Amino acid sequence: MTKPKRTAKPTGSAADFIPPRPTLTKLRAAAQHCRGCDLYTCGTQTVFGEGPSRARVLVVGEQPGDAEDKAGRPFVGPSGKLLDRAFDAAGIDRDDVYVTNAVKHFKWAKDANAKRRIHKTPNAGEIRACRPWLEQEIAIVKPEVIVCLGATAAKSLLGKSFSVMRSRGVAVKTELADVAFATVHPSAVLRAPSDERARAEKMFIADMRKVGRYLEKLDGGARKAKRAEPRTRKLSAWSTTAHRSGTSSESTRSSRG
Ligand code: URA
Ligand code: SF4
Repeated sequence: MTKPKRTAKPTGSAADFIPPRPTLTKLRAAAQHCRGCDLYTCGTQTVFGEGPSRARVLVVGEQPGDAEDKAGRPFVGPSGKLLDRAFDAAGIDRDDVYVTNAVKHFKWAKDANAKRRIHKTPNAGEIRACRPWLEQEIAIVKPEVIVCLGATAAKSLLGKSFSVMRSRGVAVKTELADVAFATVHPSAVLRAPSDERARAEKMFIADMRKVGRYLEKLDGGARKAKRAEPRTRKLSAWSTTAHRSGTSSESTRSSRG
């Protein structure tokens, strides 16, 4: 994969690239030029989130993989296929889901034969630098439920001390949505040793079913009331602050109401 030589210094935060009065379309375009961290030289392109701007569920992975980096779209590779199966099994409509990642560039290194690109876990500084994109996506989509896939997403959104292993499949309080759930990353299921693979997938699907059941419960009336709210209020309050201060990484939403 050839890529242009890029030598400009990273600025330290994606907040420096967020456009005024952002929409998902504007953000996606702006993110293509992000130099918030050094990963901008690493991947082929920025892989921004994808899905309806009124999705009920916002799913956050770690970072694009090899397939996503080439396609420029999140969750199109093997992990995405498993994720789709889990949505199906949980009765979650794909039209209700926005998928994105905590970090929007593929971080990789060459394998020993210099043939394959091997995934490398993003570090805390890269996750922090990229967070403003994710915050903007959440502010615009205003999901009812956030689902964190794996430790990187969970720690980015639910706090450093959050343990996926201890709290998977549990509804967690968050200011970012009505509720958040965390589960393992689908790639961990795919990497499980063959004798554990079926069980790992079953557990992953069971976690996703809990999300599905939560959505069904919300359908009992509360959802209709929420959907009737004007959907611009919080976005302008939140994104304007983030944009002006230039340091949106610590911003939280003050309320859902
Ligand atoms: N893994 C992720 O975390 N995100 C993707 O988009 C693909 C694989
Ligand atoms: Fe910007 Fe995120 Fe890519 Fe870093 S990983 S360059 S912060 S989009």
